[in-house]
Amino acid sequence: MTKPTLLERLRAMREPRFFGLGVIVLACLPMLFGILAVASDLLLHTRYFGSNPIKAGEHFLGDWTLRLLVATLAITPLRRTLHWIWLVRHRRTLGLFAFGYLMLHWLTYAVLDVQLDWTDLVRDLMKRPYIMIGMAALVMMIPLAITSTRRMVRRLGRNWQRLHRLVYVIAIFGVIHFWMSVKKDISEPLLYAVIFGALFAHRIPYAIAHRRAAAKSAVALGRS
Ligand code: HEM
Repeated sequence: MTKPTLLERLRAMREPRFFGLGVIVLACLPMLFGILAVASDLLLHTRYFGSNPIKAGEHFLGDWTLRLLVATLAITPLRRTLHWIWLVRHRRTLGLFAFGYLMLHWLTYAVLDVQLDWTDLVRDLMKRPYIMIGMAALVMMIPLAITSTRRMVRRLGRNWQRLHRLVYVIAIFGVIHFWMSVKKDISEPLLYAVIFGALFAHRIPYAIAHRRAAAKSAVALGRS
């Protein structure tokens, strides 16, 4: 008998116990680090967040929003490659954490950076296109977060899937926003563009096969 390959062994894996809890703990760790770093900077005069803690905090939370978006969008390709159907249960958790970090990113900007000065906020929106693009991504993410419950999935049916395709646009806007906000070194936003590109490309053959199957069954139904 031949030995099973690594891929076969991985595919046979069941969901580890407490996997869901592990996902939540891992997604909370950056936040915990952020809180401890701010407390240490304030109380012990350390400089985890450097000389401009507001900017550093904004960047820290923006980075984690993108990382969690990558993790959310990686679920489907991983599920398909490794046949881990159970992985899909954790997509919502990751998506909601991405939304949480995005809201904190926005709050750091709105409350600490522009200090809730609405004229400043609007002026910034008009003057800096990357803020406008980031804001558009945030606005698109709100309906996704609201409709992430099981009840909404059931209620919206196929429209739920259509609506949640917005996550691709959000990821693209997130990368453009990052790209436009950096002054010189574009290596990081470029890396995200490549990662999202690869994750989107993985879906193309499945989408084509799905369309073909749907067209075939429509023809079959027409004949019967
Ligand atoms: C999906 C939406 C968004 C994503 C993924 C995102 C992500 C990021 C990332 C990765 C950075 C750069 C971090 C670094 O340099 O390491 C950043 C910077 C920034 N973002 Fe966002 N962001 C989003 C939405 C927003 C929104 C809604 C606002 C405010 C209205 C905003 C305001 C800013 C600001 C002010 C900076 C700092 C730019 C600078 O260096 O001056 N972002 N964002």
